[in-house]
Amino acid sequence: MRAETDHLPQIRPAEDEVALSQAVALLAAGELVAVPTETVYGLAADATNDTAVASIFETKGRPAFNPLIVHCAERNEARLMGDFDDRASRLADMFWPGPLTLVVPRREGGSIAELTTAGLPTVALRIPGAGPVPELVTRLGRPLAAPSANRSGRLTATTAQDVAEELGDSVPLILDSGPSRIGLESTVIALLPQEPPRLLRPGGLDREEIERVLGEPLLGPGRAIASPGMLSTHYAPEARLRLDVRDPDADEAYLAFGPHRGPSGTPTLNLSPSGDLKEAAANLFSHLRHLDKDAARIAVAPVPRTGLGIAINDRLQRAAQRD
Ligand code: TXA
Ligand code: MG
Repeated sequence: MRAETDHLPQIRPAEDEVALSQAVALLAAGELVAVPTETVYGLAADATNDTAVASIFETKGRPAFNPLIVHCAERNEARLMGDFDDRASRLADMFWPGPLTLVVPRREGGSIAELTTAGLPTVALRIPGAGPVPELVTRLGRPLAAPSANRSGRLTATTAQDVAEELGDSVPLILDSGPSRIGLESTVIALLPQEPPRLLRPGGLDREEIERVLGEPLLGPGRAIASPGMLSTHYAPEARLRLDVRDPDADEAYLAFGPHRGPSGTPTLNLSPSGDLKEAAANLFSHLRHLDKDAARIAVAPVPRTGLGIAINDRLQRAAQRD
């Protein structure tokens, strides 16, 4: 037996009361739990906890911060987080719970972590049609961010065993309810003001069914919101960003990292004084947003290009490239 057997994730039946309580306790403590849904297995964290959401990106090994789907227990809860127009309401009434994700304007003052939506003014919401997620959300009292439970760039996991193979010992608990019924991710639809309805990702719910309820055709993603690569315009601060700076200019605010501080008098926020990349990822969007209010130019300290630092640098570069 390998010594690391002790650390392999536990696979437990999703119906098991002890397993459910354990899952809620882990999620409340900011840990990850892999969960079955009718589409695919997800890697779940408390969607209101930036550090827990940073763990998702760390575990998946994603080289970029893509916005994640916020999973809710019921429609009223979803409405607290996003603005539903008439079209969104009709789709939610018709297809939730189910394999449909709605991207709508994010509500001001909500509790969703900035990292969950990658700093976007929109939020992707879904109520899964099977599995323990609604129950977990209810017991936790918070929604769950959950991307598909595979490593970045690899096949989607549709069984608990797939998840164990994909994520090895980096997730403490995998809830098992057998193979996912649909085996394909949810269909993602954007319903944004002054925009036609757009299909961002085909998935478990047929577009024809959606078009029938909307009474109009779905357009493609369009330039503003297309797919992951497209997310370049995602979070664009007003301020000009200058990267890899150790000595900010007098008129710049400073986004520091590690023990290195800006000159006194310079508005400074530190991504992680101890140099912890997970903490830095958790702080990235909210710190940028704050500094954006302080100055027309922001200097950013060097952030190591390893692990989560790759996604942090990717985001900073996109923000800096803006014309
Ligand atoms: O079936 C599913 O949807 C699974 C299960 C676990 O629920 N989840 C899933 O999540 O596939 P993920 O993170 O692998 O895919 C989320 C998709 C991505 O294509 C992402 O770009 C898009 O939703 N998305 C999320 N928030 C968005 C937003 N605010 N604007 C545009 N696209 C968004
Ligand atoms: Mg995925």
